[in-house]
Amino acid sequence: MYRSHNCGELRISDSNKQVTLAGWVQIVRKFGSITFVDLRDRYGITQLFFNEAMTEQLDSQPLGREFVIQAEGRVIERSNKNPKLPTGDIEIEVTAFSILNKSAVPPFTIEEETDGGDELRMKYRYLDLRRGPLQRNLALRYRVNRSVRNYLDSLGFFDIETPFLIKSTPEGARDFVVPSRMNAGEFYGLPQSPQTFKQLLMVSGYDRYYQIVKCFRDEDLRADRQPEFTQIDCEMAFVEQEDVIQMCEGLIRHVFSEVKDLHFTDSFPRMTWTESMRRYGNDKPDIRYGMEHIILKAPQGDLEHTDAAIDMVGGAGFKVMDEAEMVIALNVTGASEYTRKQLDELTEWVKRPQVGMTGLIHVKYNTDGSIKSSVDKFFSEERLRVWLDKAHAQPGDLLLILCGRQERTRKAASDLRLELGNRLGLRKKDEYAPLWVTDFPLLEYAEEDVDGGGAGRWVARHHPFTAPKPEQVGLMDDPSQYAYIKANAYDIVLNGHEIGGGSIRIFQKELQQKMFHALGISKEEQEEKFGFLLGAFEYGAPPHGGLALGFDRLCALMGGDEVIRDYIAFPKNNSGRDTMLDAPAAISGKQLQELYLASTFRQ
Ligand code: AMO
Repeated sequence: MYRSHNCGELRISDSNKQVTLAGWVQIVRKFGSITFVDLRDRYGITQLFFNEAMTEQLDSQPLGREFVIQAEGRVIERSNKNPKLPTGDIEIEVTAFSILNKSAVPPFTIEEETDGGDELRMKYRYLDLRRGPLQRNLALRYRVNRSVRNYLDSLGFFDIETPFLIKSTPEGARDFVVPSRMNAGEFYGLPQSPQTFKQLLMVSGYDRYYQIVKCFRDEDLRADRQPEFTQIDCEMAFVEQEDVIQMCEGLIRHVFSEVKDLHFTDSFPRMTWTESMRRYGNDKPDIRYGMEHIILKAPQGDLEHTDAAIDMVGGAGFKVMDEAEMVIALNVTGASEYTRKQLDELTEWVKRPQVGMTGLIHVKYNTDGSIKSSVDKFFSEERLRVWLDKAHAQPGDLLLILCGRQERTRKAASDLRLELGNRLGLRKKDEYAPLWVTDFPLLEYAEEDVDGGGAGRWVARHHPFTAPKPEQVGLMDDPSQYAYIKANAYDIVLNGHEIGGGSIRIFQKELQQKMFHALGISKEEQEEKFGFLLGAFEYGAPPHGGLALGFDRLCALMGGDEVIRDYIAFPKNNSGRDTMLDAPAAISGKQLQELYLASTFRQ
């Protein structure tokens, strides 16, 4: 028997028990002739006490950090208690110990806060995973996983596995491909999601499917994106949008209440895509705070909802605003006392290439009711008050104004809002604000397709299997109307992150063909790429729909983080590399030849 107890469970009530513990040496503290050792495993830390005689033994067999040892002894009350540790009232008076394995000196400290940089921690991931924060993250991930499974099982969902070696499924990113040895010159694609398989399962009559499944997308990485990530993927037959939304909302409620003891009392709010874009400038707004976009100038037809152009800034001879397509203000509550330095810093922030603005205009509504702005030269106080009124600004507030091209300005104002939210502490970790965003456009005009082909074309905003709103199906015949068709699609957003998305699917062959046609996919290509799906639709496909949640994102947000990497045991770094394995890597000439990737044998 290696151990009778783990390192996190002994308490004062266990006093006098004879125990055996095994674990890793966190730290050795020698005080003259006696020694204390913190022994760690995934359950916690227990202090070992080595008396004089045992310390002598230690001197002949010195322990180092991360040595794996076994220690036997008696649980005793500690004279110097540590209230920060659950086991802090006791220690083990060691009577025997053995070194099970030695350790080299670890390249960074394996403690709550480590001195190791990101790259080093990634290279020695197996050591980083020993640290408390990582262990808690993976424990949370496991609890969420189990809670999801229990909930879906209780609703009669089947977990059905789908293959990884498939033909590409378009989800908007590039595919990872795998060469086939048995089929010369041919490749499998790794699934960007199990989308078409889950639809086929609906055709096969498994009307409630789920899977917690790996998906693979060759796209640029960000804090909340990994090339291989996990989805909680669901699909249901004989459902409408409302059914899927209710199911998913129930799932999220269940998981939060079980794992975090957090109970959402109200239904999740909903917002159409158009409203979300207008009020927050993006389709995944963080609604934990206000600071909504105040449109001071917009062209006619902006987001299809303005019948006439808006212009509250024109005619003053201020070129920047006169030439701007769009002018958006944010009202920062209580910020009228921002210093020149703070404003300069924000101006530099919006000028960064990622944000791409030429400057930032401000209007201070001072607490004494007076106004001071960076555009005093051009605008009368009366004019400025019109803007403040529109923003419902109060004395003490600050208007920050961005001008420029329509889309860029909207995006910049959205970015600035988030930045201010962070700086002002409005994005609180322990506050959760879920939101449904609905009624997305079905199609989007892309200036350049993902393969860099050059010419513009229509692409599916969600994916090509998403159904249009039933009342708009007729518009699919008229390309001039494509921009106005709304999809039966919905995203679930949490604290400014898209944590899931789904749709009601097309289930009739003719409509699916029309959709492919709209996307510029020729009849031959449709047959070649999606023949199996179109074929299945000929054999009694039921109405169906579903959604997929980003499992890594959900876990990270539940853990109070926005970066998903430390909620994944073995993630990739920002360049898509596994620095521990040193992958991707070259393969041998023999392997290349076997896979028909090299015409000659190179060794
Ligand atoms: P979608 O592409 O919106 O939908 O993906 C669903 C959710 O998966 C998460 N996600 C990611 N998480 C980490 N890294 C990534 N690279 C990444 N990409 C996406 C997001 C996202 O909301 N088949 C459809 C679902 C459906 O229609 O049922 C799909 O994959 O949280």
